[in-house]
Amino acid sequence: MKNLFRILVVLFATVNSLSAQNNNLLINAYNRKTTSLNGPWKYIVDPYENGFYNYRYEPFENQSNPGKAAFFTNSKPDNKSDLVEYDFDKMDNILVPGDWNTQKENLYYYEGTVWYKKSFDYDLKDANRAFAYFEASNYQTDVYLNGKKLGRHVGGFTPFNFEITDIVKPQDNFLVVKVDNKRIKDGVPTLNTDWWNYGGITRDIKIIETSKNFIQDYFIQLAPKNNKLIKGYAKLDGEDIANKRVSISIPELKIKKEFTTDDTGQVSFEIDVKKVKYWSVNQPYLYDVTIETAEDKITDKIGFRTIETSGTNILLNGESVFLKGISIHEESPSRHGRGYSKEDAKQLLQWAKELGCNYVRLAHYPHNEHMVRLADQMGILVWEENPVYWTISWDNESTYENAENQLSELITRDKNRASVIIWSMANETPTSEARNSFLNKLAKFTRAKDPTRLISAALEQSSYNGSNTIRTIHDPFAETVDILSFNQYIGWYDGLPEKCSAISWKIDINKPVIISEFGAGAKYGLHGDKEERWTEEYQEDLYLQTLKMLDQIDQLKGISPWILVDFRSPRRVLAEIQEGWNRKGLISEQGEKKKAFFVLKNYYDNKKTE
Ligand code: GCU
Repeated sequence: MKNLFRILVVLFATVNSLSAQNNNLLINAYNRKTTSLNGPWKYIVDPYENGFYNYRYEPFENQSNPGKAAFFTNSKPDNKSDLVEYDFDKMDNILVPGDWNTQKENLYYYEGTVWYKKSFDYDLKDANRAFAYFEASNYQTDVYLNGKKLGRHVGGFTPFNFEITDIVKPQDNFLVVKVDNKRIKDGVPTLNTDWWNYGGITRDIKIIETSKNFIQDYFIQLAPKNNKLIKGYAKLDGEDIANKRVSISIPELKIKKEFTTDDTGQVSFEIDVKKVKYWSVNQPYLYDVTIETAEDKITDKIGFRTIETSGTNILLNGESVFLKGISIHEESPSRHGRGYSKEDAKQLLQWAKELGCNYVRLAHYPHNEHMVRLADQMGILVWEENPVYWTISWDNESTYENAENQLSELITRDKNRASVIIWSMANETPTSEARNSFLNKLAKFTRAKDPTRLISAALEQSSYNGSNTIRTIHDPFAETVDILSFNQYIGWYDGLPEKCSAISWKIDINKPVIISEFGAGAKYGLHGDKEERWTEEYQEDLYLQTLKMLDQIDQLKGISPWILVDFRSPRRVLAEIQEGWNRKGLISEQGEKKKAFFVLKNYYDNKKTE
């Protein structure tokens, strides 16, 4: 009997931890009733995961009675003889949000588990529901409230939430979070990346309180190829959500429409819109939109625009646009750690604006929500990317599920942001049968979830018919994407900048082309002749030569050079020059603009945008 009970417990724990990945993500946390849990948390560094496994390396949570040794029980000795070999409350504090690498010197290179603990009181209004909402936590996160497992989330850059309604108490709650940022072969991303593996609860964490039956999700955007029609849906969550009234109002357009949910609590709708101020780069107009039911009401600021391709053109509201962009990593210009704040986003996007950009490529993973909400307000078009980077385990089903789940969470979060025009499936992934089918499956999933945006990826480029001087795209995934993007480093990894003048590009596919990366490393303040590697003059010449070469590509419709700001990478170790920093930024990590910044600015200032 005892064994049967143990089996059932193991089964429940496994299902519970798996099911958390598909937890109903609450949309628009921005404008909901929330209580922040940001601030100082107690933490324990646990490289051997001693707080999660017993000495036989069996998970405590699979035991019927985990006992006090499991850190998630936040136990104290019962008396002076009792043995408990940890005490959160006697530990130091660490700030949430924020990576641990740049907060604690002894954790700079740390890759492993850190336990976080926060005690709090919470007065949940009668009949309401409550959720613990994480904007992001890198990489694998196990969450426990008052000793009970809420669930597990895998993926370091997308939001997730767990319901706490039946567990949270008015006083003395303790939320224990196990964050493990170990890189793993079957992960997304996989073992090797050219960015710092910032670990921790890296973005805001909050409690969201909702009514018993609430508005969990909605999609309110113009129908593809029809700028006179809003086509969307709303989804309720709760016990009593069938045949419920949902109203959508956009006062400035004199729209207030009522719809009724089906048996599953969902309703799809179409709303004719006559005179819309279309969102654009020059007029980033956002409408106040309210979604309301008898129990819940949520507001959002939504821009309406169309984005599509026609032959080799990218059309924003029907007009051809050239994407004058820059690639950006999510690093704080002030703290030099994982970015997360509105101030971080403002500084990065202001620099992009100063550069003359109308577009940014948020590499290589979903950035925090401030970036896209600010881009909505500033009129900056956005490429968002799933961290399917380099040599992913293409044959592994759970790797695919993980990649799809992270993309799903990103699309759920940002599908109402007018600034977001491109979902990128991947970056620089070596072609193979398995990789092609993995990416095609992701693209199919994405189109079904959001038919209104364009799909791209940094594809593989190669020589044209074996030529030494003509380049092309032979990547099979080029058939699937809407925009042909690829990274090329002629003049840095491939010859010297003068080589650009000998190269031409022949791309026989009738789609727009974006060069998603090019660049060169330069240490700010290091000067010499333009052939001297790492000088600002070398980088400046690379930009001059590359821009000349790229202008020869007839269907070139955008560029996002690599990269706005120098960023941390453990792969960049050259003494006196890199020392843990990738130096391809146009701006140093101290905010100093290099000479190449002004080359690109001049190019954009003189570039027609249509
Ligand atoms: C690659 C990759 C980037 C990397 C860059 C570089 O194209 O996409 O993530 O940082 O090259 O080598 O600096």
